[in-house]
Amino acid sequence: MKKVLITGASRGLGAEIAKLFLENGDLVYINYNQSKDKAQDNFKNYPNAHLVKCDVSNEEEIKEMINTIKNEVDYLDVIVNNAGIAIDTMVDDKTMANFQKIIDTNLIGPFLVVKYARYLLKNTSSIINISSTNGIDTYYPYSLDYDASKAGLISLTHNMAVELAPIRVNAVAPGWINTDMNKDLDEDFIKKECEHILLKRFADPKEVAQVVFFLASDEASYINNTVIRVDGGFR
Ligand SMILES: NC(=O)c1ccc[n+]([C@@H]2O[C@H](COP(=O)([O-])OP(=O)(O)OC[C@H]3O[C@@H](n4cnc5c(N)ncnc54)[C@H](OP(=O)(O)O)[C@@H]3O)[C@@H](O)[C@H]2O)c1
Repeated sequence: MKKVLITGASRGLGAEIAKLFLENGDLVYINYNQSKDKAQDNFKNYPNAHLVKCDVSNEEEIKEMINTIKNEVDYLDVIVNNAGIAIDTMVDDKTMANFQKIIDTNLIGPFLVVKYARYLLKNTSSIINISSTNGIDTYYPYSLDYDASKAGLISLTHNMAVELAPIRVNAVAPGWINTDMNKDLDEDFIKKECEHILLKRFADPKEVAQVVFFLASDEASYINNTVIRVDGGFR
């Protein structure tokens, strides 16, 4: 039975990743921030799901979350840094406060989670950071702050891999996924984006979750310090 922490697992991709581990018989710390009810509802049938509140943009809350976990288990096999936000606006409407919030949540949060949970990791443990193709080569000025945070997370992945070896550290870079994050997208925009995707559709979150689950498995024991795109073939 693996012991797993997934940030931002109350809904969306994080919840799908959590369900795969839970259905495999693993124990999963489901981190939520604002969506407590949703998290409770999503995981009511999973006795091995342990809900834990934490705003990953808040260092003190991260420390508390890791302390809570430490009081219940001796180690963690897997950390998935999944929590993330986007605040899409025209470039002229970008504010420093929002840019900061995105960096705090998407980039500094994953660093602090690993910093404080590091001593719970074993040599066989692994970390998976959820980045985005926006952090590699698909750029959208309305999400330039988000894109920069996801590029930073890839850099963080590589440095963590160097620092923590033999703990494996990898990133997953999804393209478009059907989650709440994209629920307000314009139909025309979705259609245009799909023209650039060889599979002509957005991903179901399960299709990305499977890749994360594999990366955490013993079958992926030689995959390290890499970024795996899951974007349906974007060009
Ligand atoms: N959807 C896409 O197309 C796409 C593409 C590439 C990468 N991604 C990345 O995939 C990850 C999951 O995204 P998603 O599509 O599942 O988004 P989502 O449906 O909007 O869900 C976001 C999750 O992150 C959590 N979260 C947000 N801020 C948080 C904070 N400060 N502390 C703790 N948890 C926080 C939310 O928890 P609460 O609701 O409990 O606050 C929620 O569980 C993100 O890192 C995102 O950037 C998404």
